[in-house]
Amino acid sequence: MSKINLTSVPFKGTKKQEEELRAALADIKKMNGALMPALQTAQGIYGYLPIEVQKIVSEELNVPLEEIFGVATFYSQFKLNPVGKYSVSVCLGTACYVKGAGNIIDRLKRELNLEEGGTSADGMFSLAATRCIGCCGLAPVLTVNEDVYGKLVADDIPGILSKYGR
Ligand code: FES
Repeated sequence: MSKINLTSVPFKGTKKQEEELRAALADIKKMNGALMPALQTAQGIYGYLPIEVQKIVSEELNVPLEEIFGVATFYSQFKLNPVGKYSVSVCLGTACYVKGAGNIIDRLKRELNLEEGGTSADGMFSLAATRCIGCCGLAPVLTVNEDVYGKLVADDIPGILSKYGR
């Protein structure tokens, strides 16, 4: 089982977002199989599914929080952490992996002091692993938002992060 990294970024949901979610859930809960659309709607409103939001879904759908948490962590479409201003993604597809993507992500974890799936407390950086992004000729590859970096070695990482204020 992989480790689940919950963010240390404080939850900043507003009353308006909560009202919007509760109103949407009032309709959704009448559906069969309401849980997935409920979580998709909640993520659409907040951008991710912190425990505070999972509790609202639990209350409104009358579904135990453990079940909500289980679904939110099982499906990769759901995010438990907010995405940082700079979303750093390392391709762990086969071509990148055999060319040393493991070293790249290890170096990023050290430099950013983050685990995979985590977001820094200042909300600036989040770190994720992705599948092949179709740039295998540049392996190993990482992206920072829309920027693509290829043919990487671990020592390239500090210079790349410095472009984003690190
Ligand atoms: S395997 Fe990494 S870009 Fe294809």
